Amino acid sequence: MMTLCHENDIEEGSSKGFEVANKYLFAVKKDAQIFVYYNYCPHLGTPLEWQEDQFLDSDGALIQCSTHGALFLIESGQCIQGPCKGKHLKAIPFQQGNGFIMINEEDVARLGRI
Ligand code: FES
Repeated sequence: MMTLCHENDIEEGSSKGFEVANKYLFAVKKDAQIFVYYNYCPHLGTPLEWQEDQFLDSDGALIQCSTHGALFLIESGQCIQGPCKGKHLKAIPFQQGNGFIMINEEDVARLGRI
């Protein structure tokens, strides 16, 4: 296991990008809960963010792909609007202990095309 970050490194209602094992991930904090996903749009496989650490729509309610605007639920990663409607972002399993978010590097290294 490796530490991705501390949960306090992500502000409530915001997101943060990471690079692990040459793969891109991002985490979102909503209602004090953390969600971690592979930064790979199920439409064309592009990274999602608009700018560094900006993965959410303007009111912070949904994850939004900057390429064609697909919208995803923060809680499940399900696309609810856009060209990949019905598909899901790939959730990354993680553990939390003492406020740290920990992931398995081997899980991440295995990520490929969805
Ligand atoms: S690449 Fe994300 S919506 Fe097209």
